[in-house]
Amino acid sequence: MSTSHEIVEKNVGLMIVLIIVAISFGGLVEIVPLFFQKETTQPVAGMKPLTALQMEGRDIYIREGCHVCHSQMIRPLRAETERYGHYSVAGESVWDHPFLWGSKRTGPDLARVGGRYSDDWQRAHLMNPRDVVPESNMPGFPWLAERELTGEHTSKKLEVFRNFGVPYTEEEIRKAPYEVQGKTEMDALIAYLQQLGTVIKSKR
Ligand code: HEC
Repeated sequence: MSTSHEIVEKNVGLMIVLIIVAISFGGLVEIVPLFFQKETTQPVAGMKPLTALQMEGRDIYIREGCHVCHSQMIRPLRAETERYGHYSVAGESVWDHPFLWGSKRTGPDLARVGGRYSDDWQRAHLMNPRDVVPESNMPGFPWLAERELTGEHTSKKLEVFRNFGVPYTEEEIRKAPYEVQGKTEMDALIAYLQQLGTVIKSKR
């Protein structure tokens, strides 16, 4: 007696098609709602756009490849939350283009490093990590302290992010270059680091 199950099992082509249908359906059910859920599309309460200086810092973070050794994504696992603080939530990343979640952890996760150390510690660490963490194998970035920001493209950067939906005002965009001029790349990078993950308070 041949059941419908037997027909599928004896017909590889049909089985492949049905497997694809089943997997696609499962994928759609998991993925499509994410496009519409408030939790994944709206910023978490109290989130502010990066200031002009922090935005320049973010670009330096990308340029220097910090994301190649550091993730910004705390997973909801006990070992992670005890070490780094509250796990990362999607609403914290809605204004991050591109995301800097990363996957490589040569160094610790930085998703909530904001406020963990003083500006002076961060400066000393970036100049030469071994001055504050003797066993560190992170490279130093001393040249950042010598390079001054001109503010040439700062307004443009904020404008681009406004196109992505980050609520910058005309005034913030206009004033952006004056906020960064004369500051060093080191100042900008530290300003960026010090706000990371601070919207959600964690008791680490
Ligand atoms: C080659 C890999 C590597 C690169 C590139 C790198 N780091 Fe690190 N980083 C590490 C390691 C390893 C540590 C842990 C030892 C230490 O604290 O110095 C660390 C630690 C840190 C810490 C302290 C984190 C904590 O919770 O204690 C900060 C902040 C940091 N890095 C920022 C940066 C920034 C900003 C950049 C880019 C300018 C950068 N790192 C580039 C490897 C790296």
